[in-house]
Amino acid sequence: MEHFNIIQALCRSALSTPNSAVVQQIIRLKEALKKEGHSKEAKSLDALLVPSQKALEMTPSKIKQSFAIGKGDELTSKTPIPVDKETSTPLAEIYFGDDLPDEIPVFEDAIKEAIFSIIAEWSKFDKLVEIEAYPASSCLIYGLPGTGKTHLAKWIAKQIGLPVVLARLEGLMSSFLGTTAKNIGNLFAFADRYNCVLLLDEFDAIAKLRNDPQEVGEVKRVVNTLLQCLDSRKNRGFTIGVTNHESLLDPAIWRRFDIQIEIPKPSSKVVMSLLRKFLQPLEFADNEIKLFAWCIDDSTGADVETLAKWIKRSSVIDNNMTFAHTIRQFALLNSGRVDENKRNIILNNEEEFINALIEDDKYSFKQVDIAPLFGMTTSSLSKLKSKMK
Ligand SMILES: Nc1ncnc2c1ncn2[C@@H]1O[C@H](COP(=O)(O)OP(=O)(O)O)[C@@H](O)[C@H]1O
Ligand SMILES: [Mg+2]
Repeated sequence: MEHFNIIQALCRSALSTPNSAVVQQIIRLKEALKKEGHSKEAKSLDALLVPSQKALEMTPSKIKQSFAIGKGDELTSKTPIPVDKETSTPLAEIYFGDDLPDEIPVFEDAIKEAIFSIIAEWSKFDKLVEIEAYPASSCLIYGLPGTGKTHLAKWIAKQIGLPVVLARLEGLMSSFLGTTAKNIGNLFAFADRYNCVLLLDEFDAIAKLRNDPQEVGEVKRVVNTLLQCLDSRKNRGFTIGVTNHESLLDPAIWRRFDIQIEIPKPSSKVVMSLLRKFLQPLEFADNEIKLFAWCIDDSTGADVETLAKWIKRSSVIDNNMTFAHTIRQFALLNSGRVDENKRNIILNNEEEFINALIEDDKYSFKQVDIAPLFGMTTSSLSKLKSKMK
């Protein structure tokens, strides 16, 4: 069917932020195609629709501003933020709804479902309180740097419908003895006073104090203050902790959080979705996306974002470069982002690069997929392949 690839690309873009009107129209299109006998095309639309429909079903309606809300004061852009007494640096940044992300990060469905279920619980807060089943009011998000944890925490806050008081623990730590504990106390007093979500980012910073034997007393004081503050905040508002190094966290602090979510590295399926998302508004064919994913496999979402930016840039600047060449340049200048083995293969010589793709069993490249990436015809690629043997 002529131009179906454009229709499919349009649908894919529209479904990247699904809403029920878009989904409905694509279902209509799919039905019409099916009726006219284009069953292959209808099926491919179906494949696009399934995850979006699921996401729509799961997306909870905005949480009613019910939980512990209305008890505190309203936070506005004019509210004075507490500062470190010694250095006058603010202890937190405030984010209002418009500054918070609308989209949940791209994760495996199982993780998304778990997160949606917490939010669904919060949306039934009043009913749960009636039967004395208090929902969780704190959660700890942990995983490698660059996996989307801070983004997720902000998105959760947006669902709750309250501004975020974001404190980087590093920023609360003062070189003046006793001031760190005081800063933590002041931060919590501030967060408890206003209706907000308290986001404690880079929580592991506290653990760094431990490496210094001179700081034993200070560490104890800081950890104790933190424990007390977390306990007394329990019925006042939501608290989200984020850490890259969960093993550094004091077990007592760890236990204070009702929910703990581990964010893993993205799977290759998630990497491909992330690539499509970050490459927008540009559209790429499946074989191209597969090549990019192969190159950045086993990295974090932040690395995928960097690669996508690179591809976008080179598609404007050197638009007659083959994709294999773009990837080679990326590997050359991003040694920390590309797996060392793959990097050697990519940079060594073209034949080795082609061979590695042919033999890869995760992405199952076909020769017709590979040839255009290297600016070859399929027949010249098979000639090269038989020469390699
Ligand atoms: N799974 C993901 N989905 C969408 N964006 C992601 C994902 N993982 C990382 N990112 C992007 O990478 C960057 C770093 O994410 P961030 O939330 O700061 O990571 P972390 O807090 O885990 O270090 C952000 O621009 C974010 O949007
Ligand atoms: Mg972060």
